Amino acid sequence: MNLAFWEAAPASTSGSAVILLHGFPLASGMWRSQLEELSREFRVVTPDLRGHGRSPAPVGSYSMEELAADVIELADRLGITEPMVVGGLSMGGYVALALALAYPRRLRGLMLVDTRAAADTPEAASGRIESARRVLAAGSAAEVIQALVPRLFAASTRQRHPERIEPIVEMMRQTPVHGVAGALLGMAGRPDRRAELGRIDVPTLVLVGEEDEISPPEEARAMAAALPRGRLELVPEAGHLAPYENPAAVSDAMLRFLRDLA
Ligand code: MLT
Repeated sequence: MNLAFWEAAPASTSGSAVILLHGFPLASGMWRSQLEELSREFRVVTPDLRGHGRSPAPVGSYSMEELAADVIELADRLGITEPMVVGGLSMGGYVALALALAYPRRLRGLMLVDTRAAADTPEAASGRIESARRVLAAGSAAEVIQALVPRLFAASTRQRHPERIEPIVEMMRQTPVHGVAGALLGMAGRPDRRAELGRIDVPTLVLVGEEDEISPPEEARAMAAALPRGRLELVPEAGHLAPYENPAAVSDAMLRFLRDLA
């Protein structure tokens, strides 16, 4: 799968490459601020996952393992042979976890943002399968987007930066219906990773918006505690889209983590 991507890097860099994976049903553009800030010191790549942004959107279910294999294929294509740092928000975090477990030798560090290690409950999984069916039948993801948007942002973002909401809605509208359905089906089938966290032995930064109601801070705290080298940081004035809602705090936490690794 030939993923589309953005890349930026300083003139010379000796640190690990950093790959940032977006959430559902978004695209690489959600990392614009981190791409700019982190690339002053590190090589940063922000792909559009299969079915999202400008990447191909095949028909079918996209397992998190398959999305992780796409990312490894992109890293190979870009000549990233040294162990890299992979970060992911929400669905991107599910993919980052799948990658960490399947390709441990490719990894130098991990950044899990507003995400979780648990699987869907049976009710949530069947809700997603039903949503995928409706999206395909309607030829539109409007219903999914409408249900998701009110849960994404912190109250402070809605009050102080209402202009930040529309660009995200527009990014979601651009996601092809087969991409939305494929990701919904893949997320519905993802396994519970909690018992496997102990196998991830690279330094891991766990970031979560203080007001994230989709992947709440308690889950992030439990995940950080179960990771042998986990470190938790809460992001103030942020909900589920912390890197977009409070970009300075997230870039700052990531830069501190990346400098410690270097
Ligand atoms: C995301 O932001 O990627 C989604 O909220 C993930 C999910 O629905 O589990």
